[in-house]
This record gives sequence, structure tokens and C-alpha cells, in this order.
Amino acid sequence: MTPSEYTGPAFWASAFLGDYLAFWWPEPTYIEIVTGTIRLEGVYKIFGEQPRGRALELAQAGHSKTEIQAWTDHVVGLADVNVDIRQGELFVIMGLSGSGKSTAIRTVNQLHSVTAGSVWVDDVDIQTLSGRALQAVRREKMGMVFQHFALFPHRNVIDNVAYGLEVQGVDKTERVNSAMEALSLVGLQRYAMSMPSQLSGGMQQRVGLARALASDPSILLMDEAFSALDPLIRRQMQDELMAIQQQLKKTILFITHDLNEALRIGDRVCIMRGGRVVQIGTPEEILTKPASGYVAEFVQDVDQGRVIEVQEVMVEPAPIAATDSLAAAVRSIEDRAGVFVLDANGAPEAMLTVADGLDALERGASVVSEALRTDFERCGPRQTLNEIYASAGRGLPIAVVEDGKLVGNLDPRHIMKELGRVESLIDSFEREVFL
Ligand SMILES: Nc1ncnc2c1ncn2[C@@H]1O[C@H](COP(=O)(O)OP(=O)(O)OP(=O)(O)O)[C@@H](O)[C@H]1O
Ligand SMILES: [Mg+2]
Repeated sequence: MTPSEYTGPAFWASAFLGDYLAFWWPEPTYIEIVTGTIRLEGVYKIFGEQPRGRALELAQAGHSKTEIQAWTDHVVGLADVNVDIRQGELFVIMGLSGSGKSTAIRTVNQLHSVTAGSVWVDDVDIQTLSGRALQAVRREKMGMVFQHFALFPHRNVIDNVAYGLEVQGVDKTERVNSAMEALSLVGLQRYAMSMPSQLSGGMQQRVGLARALASDPSILLMDEAFSALDPLIRRQMQDELMAIQQQLKKTILFITHDLNEALRIGDRVCIMRGGRVVQIGTPEEILTKPASGYVAEFVQDVDQGRVIEVQEVMVEPAPIAATDSLAAAVRSIEDRAGVFVLDANGAPEAMLTVADGLDALERGASVVSEALRTDFERCGPRQTLNEIYASAGRGLPIAVVEDGKLVGNLDPRHIMKELGRVESLIDSFEREVFL
């Protein structure tokens, strides 16, 4: 969109109308009981002329996609996929191109039928449905957002958002209501009357998200929904999606090939390779306990400081008293790099480091109080390593404080060690070959 299009009369007229609508539209209120669980049980999807033939048997016997393709000329889309997605969870499937992510999400709305296994949405095996019943479940329970947001170019934003409701035969007032609520969720109520061509790519993708939200589905299916966006816009969209999810508690199945994105937004992440699930875990588990060398390889490129929390790295505090013997206190520090003196409420008030202690001993000091310093940093146990990176840069121990009390000691060297840990893990695994 060029600047002149932004300032043209059509744009302003539509922005004004949007403002007018936004002004009297109430804030969205969703207070329904949320449902929306998804369970894939022993799911296989084979592409080829005889999907239930030898290729399936070979896949069930554990052979790899590459082998099966070479032997039978059939493509393994999914093999023995078991995934249990909870209500209100933001569940991310991540993997390289061809690993089966899109195939997996398509079994959930039955754009693909499975070769073996079942796919449960709440208490319905979606794969047994067809015709109207299938359509009804898709429309009522699922909203979908894909990478290429096919908005209708000749319909304005609100009509695009309301399209699904229109198809369902919802009357006009109600669908405009729902569409406005959905637009306000993605911050676009002012653009209700704009045409898609007047919006940037990020805004169009927001409209796509609003469209998926308009029918208030319990499940959102998002396949590479943000992959075509610029990094900055993409981050904004991720933040908004997380905020929407917090508010509405939808079950979101989100597909990406970007591990950073997966770890950033996922409550849990499922890593796929060659149609099989390699690991399912929280971002932290994926980073700190990669199930195989394959996952570890992925993980080494990730900025781990973003997900590892202080409490994973801190050690027991072992506080001392200001009146203790300095020589004994220095010996007691061990690998803590420093220890704290507490006040009557258990809050840290001063710190003794090994270096300060040794200097003071050399000067002839004998009591802890002669070597203390008070210029130490504090952090909380649930802060991430990145958040406290600047404090750690001083090289001094950090007091981990919760509810005003000292709960741990954080040694900057331990942070470095933790961040290097996954790298050494990789070395200890046999390197697997990428597909
Ligand atoms: N309709 C189809 N016919 C034949 N093979 C297919 C079909 N759809 C997918 N495949 C194959 O199944 C495998 C998994 O494909 P899928 O689209 O699920 O991968 P993906 O993980 O989504 O990859 P990408 O990141 O490129 O989107 C691939 O090898 C693909 O070639
Ligand atoms: Mg795909």
C-alpha cells in the first residue's frame, strides 16, 4: 500500500466509520465453558497408490520414511503419531519441511483421512465423520489460519471476518456483532470498513485470525500462520496470539518450522521428523533434556537464555552471620562464589565473596563483618537467564529473592555452564543424519 492510498478519501472514510463502530461496540466478553481437546492415537498417513499395503506394514515395523520411499515408492506423511493436546493449551508442532506437520494438522479437520489410527476432537473420532456432521464440527469447533490468508479482495474487512458466520446462516446483526468482537481482539476494529488491499500483510493476517475467532471456536488450527511475516511483525503477532490465548483459553494447534517461534509461544512443543514424533515437552524440557541428538542439533541454535529460569541454575544459599569467623566463612563458600548475610526477616543485606574475603584476611581481618559489601544484585527465581544477563555481567553472585527472602545463590559461572551444557550434550550423541 502506498502512502497516498493511506491518505486517500476512501481510506479516511472507512477509518472514520471503523472508529464510529469501535466507539459504541462493547468490549468482548467470553464466559463460556471451554472445550477443545485433540488426541491423535497411533496415526499413520501414507501417500501413494496402496496406502494400506506394504508401506504401512513397513512403517508399523519402524522403518524410516527414506527407506519406505526407496522400497515402495510410497511417501510416509505420518507414522505412529500420538499426541494429546489439552484444553486451552498452545501446542506447537515443529519440524523441517516434509516432516509431516501440515499432514498432522490436516488430520484434525479431516482435510486428510488417516491410513490407520484415530483422531479425537473432544469425544468424537473426527475420522469417522463425513458430510454435514463433519462440516458442523469444523464450523462450530474449529477456526483455521494458514500462511496464505486468502481474504476475499472485494469484501471489506468486517464482511471477510463474518464470512464463516454468513455461510452458517447466522443473521446479520449477530454476525456483525461477533465479527466486531473478533476484530477488537486483534486490534483492528477501526479497520472494519477497509478493503483488504488497504491493509499491510501483518494486518491482513490479523484479519485472518479474527475470521478464525469470529465463530468463537474452541480450537484454533494455525499452519505456518506467521511464517510469511517480517520478524518484527511476527513477534508482535506471537505476542498477540499469546495474549488472546490467555484471555480466551482456546486450544491452539500451531505449526511452525521455526524452533525459536515454537519455544517462544508453545506451552508444549512437539518435534517431528520424517513423519514421526521425536519429542514432546515444554520449551524448557526440549532445551535442557533433548530426547535425541536430532533435537539437540536443533536446540544448539536457539537462544536458550530466553527460556531457562534462574531457579534451574541457582544453588542453595547457605547464608552466614556477620559475626562469623572470616577464615571459616571463606572456606564455606565452596563453589558459590559468594554468600549472603541475612537480616531478621531472611532478606539478604550484605554479601561476602571469595575475593573480598581473601583480601580482607590478607589485611589482617578476622570477622565476616570486615569484608562485606552491600552493592549486590537481586533477581527472582522465575526470571529467565536473559533477563538477568546484565546483572550477571558484573561477575558477582546474585541473590535470588522471593517474597523478600533469600531462596538461592546465582553464580554467573553457573549460567555460562548451563548455557554450554546442551552443546556438550550434542558432542556426546552420535550425530544423526538430517533427512
Ligand atoms: N497430497 C500428498 N500427496 C503425496 N505426498 C504428500 C501429500 N501431502 C504431503 N505429502 C508428503 O508428505 C510429507 C509430509 O508433508 P507435509 O506437508 O506434512 O510436510 P510439512 O512438515 O508441513 O512441510 P513444510 O514445512 O514444507 O510445510 C512430505 O514428504 C510430502 O511430500
Ligand atoms: Mg506444511
